[in-house]
Amino acid sequence: MIRVAILGASGYSALELIKLLLRHPNVQITALTTRQTDARPVGNVHPELAHRLDLRLENLSLNQVAERADAVFCCLPHGASAAAVAELLPLGKRVIDFSADYRLNDPAEYSQWYGVEHPDGARMAETVYGLPELYRERIKKAVLVANPGCYPTSAILALAPFLRAGAISPDGIIIDSKSGVSGAGREPKPHLHFPECNESVSAYGVGTHRHMPEIDQVLSEAAGNQVRVVFTPHLIPMDRGILTTCYAQPVKELSTESAQSILDRFYAKEPFVRVSGALPSTRHVAGTNFCDITVRNVRGRLVVLSVIDNLIKGASGAAVQNFNLMHSLPETTALL
Ligand SMILES: NC(=O)c1ccc[n+]([C@@H]2O[C@H](COP(=O)([O-])OP(=O)(O)OC[C@H]3O[C@@H](n4cnc5c(N)ncnc54)[C@H](OP(=O)(O)O)[C@@H]3O)[C@@H](O)[C@H]2O)c1
Repeated sequence: MIRVAILGASGYSALELIKLLLRHPNVQITALTTRQTDARPVGNVHPELAHRLDLRLENLSLNQVAERADAVFCCLPHGASAAAVAELLPLGKRVIDFSADYRLNDPAEYSQWYGVEHPDGARMAETVYGLPELYRERIKKAVLVANPGCYPTSAILALAPFLRAGAISPDGIIIDSKSGVSGAGREPKPHLHFPECNESVSAYGVGTHRHMPEIDQVLSEAAGNQVRVVFTPHLIPMDRGILTTCYAQPVKELSTESAQSILDRFYAKEPFVRVSGALPSTRHVAGTNFCDITVRNVRGRLVVLSVIDNLIKGASGAAVQNFNLMHSLPETTALL
């Protein structure tokens, strides 16, 4: 059994992670952390878990976490996450970080987009980006994996096959994404109150969203050329799910059928990417680790659509997939 700790266990992504790990035959959850000082049973914090896991959320030191666990899932906000990771790695723990802290390679770019100096910048460039479909071999050997952002997962899986194949121009890519409200986490915020976001759709972070440089970085590596996308996220009144629509210019004529065969070849052996001719819907991936992708040529442009569950393929499912790879376990364990 691999002993596992979860930091930030009261949050939404941690809840989904716990539910997945309870199905995992090789995992024992041994520690759940919180900043609160009263140790609360997990069933009080997450009623869905009542009578399923006999553990309390505790305000543990990182040394205590390290004593109890072999591997750590860090479900904290950025900033808090890097501070914890920097202490856990020297204690010999393997860590999967859900936050944005180690996704970018360049500390200066992190400061520019996140507005603070990175507390552990020297480690950024060597951290493996945890998208198995692109970096499987690196993930297997990693001690620290930066789990991708939810929007980047949906956009990169839609576009990377075409950039790797040199089939679309790296210039002029537009990404339009829509996310359910759980993408913002459990902490209450005024714009997430029911009367504010129900029956309403709104864009946010136009030109400033922090996932834009993350998408640029990974797609540039896939293209072998600089890619600078225009990414616009939207909040829509549903609990979970992301629909991403990408627009790109083929470098030469590319029919819908030829474009689909690029996707088919790229994802032929991938257990969690489903390429289909039918237009995707978040409903079909909700609660699963699947990403569904469809492509169409519309008046000479490529339109690539993808859907994921932001809390599963966009966070906890991807983390379990990475965990399985890091521990030489079948990649789909606890995920199908
Ligand atoms: N939600 C998604 O769809 C999604 C997708 C991909 C990645 N992520 C990333 O995953 C991480 C967790 O996201 P989430 O949605 O689960 O967030 P969340 O629901 O807000 O939970 C995060 C938990 O971390 C603890 N926390 C908050 N601020 C903290 C601080 N300054 N120091 C230490 N602990 C703190 C809180 O627990 P206590 O109050 O009990 O201490 C909180 O419940 C974030 O980095 C997020 O960006 C989220």
